[in-house]
Amino acid sequence: MLFSMIRLGCKEIAESVMNKLKTDTEHFVLQGNRAPSLAVVLVGHDGASETYVRKKAEACGFLGFMHFQYSFDEDCSEERLLEKIDELNERKDIDGILVQLPLPSHINEKHVIERISPEKDVDGFSPVNAGRLLIGEECFTPCTPKGIMKTLEYYGISTSGKKAVVIGRSNIVGKPMAVLLMQKGIDATVTVCNTKTPDLKEYTQNADIIIVATGKPKTIDSSYVKDGAVVIDVGVNRIPDPSKKSGFHLEGDADYSSFHSRDVSITPVPGGIGLMTVSMLMMNTFDAAVRRSR
Ligand code: GUN
Repeated sequence: MLFSMIRLGCKEIAESVMNKLKTDTEHFVLQGNRAPSLAVVLVGHDGASETYVRKKAEACGFLGFMHFQYSFDEDCSEERLLEKIDELNERKDIDGILVQLPLPSHINEKHVIERISPEKDVDGFSPVNAGRLLIGEECFTPCTPKGIMKTLEYYGISTSGKKAVVIGRSNIVGKPMAVLLMQKGIDATVTVCNTKTPDLKEYTQNADIIIVATGKPKTIDSSYVKDGAVVIDVGVNRIPDPSKKSGFHLEGDADYSSFHSRDVSITPVPGGIGLMTVSMLMMNTFDAAVRRSR
């Protein structure tokens, strides 16, 4: 029997989240509240980070959020950055603070993330939010895992009683993803692997849902996946490509083309999970504004 892969595109999902948020924001403001506001801090001139920061500014513009951007040179000291965060923590007109990662190597990311007030930590990276997520309390959920849960829900992919394998154990994606999938009500049986897991296939070939978030192209191909499985590709790898005006093209962590004639559902790159992250950040910023207005 011939199969064709199912492409789980995320453009429509992200657009519907943004449209609903725009309406919710209009109502929030009509009720006499200040528009939600996001402060974005960028250090240095990393090309990918500049693109992400621009997308966040555009999303704020679309929704009618206030947006403040603070850009520092590559050689900005950790002290100067921490001073800026202290100032943003204190400001009444700012609901959400996001420091774009990665930071230059002379700055300790842990110090920076820990300095952001948990009430304004719309990335959900601070120890307080990470801890709250772990014990199932109200918190800011990191945007990429939150966007993946939304995608599974949109496509009616059930998680209860399913075997999920998460490949990658970063604080930003892998760990919070595993926590969300094992939550009560979601009820997946979760295995967390990493690039050093011997015989990765042993785990992935039994999985109903595979989340691949290693930051390494071709971490898995179709030989790693059983029929009927769902693959969520979190990778956004820039591959040098002289045929492109930008000089690169994007590839995920899964070898997408290998799945073509397989009975597998998979998120594409681009056009997949990457599109969800910004809309989830905007949801978190809206929630921060609502909580702070109470
Ligand atoms: N760099 C790559 N992804 C992210 C993200 O979700 N938040 C921040 N702050 N930096 C990032």
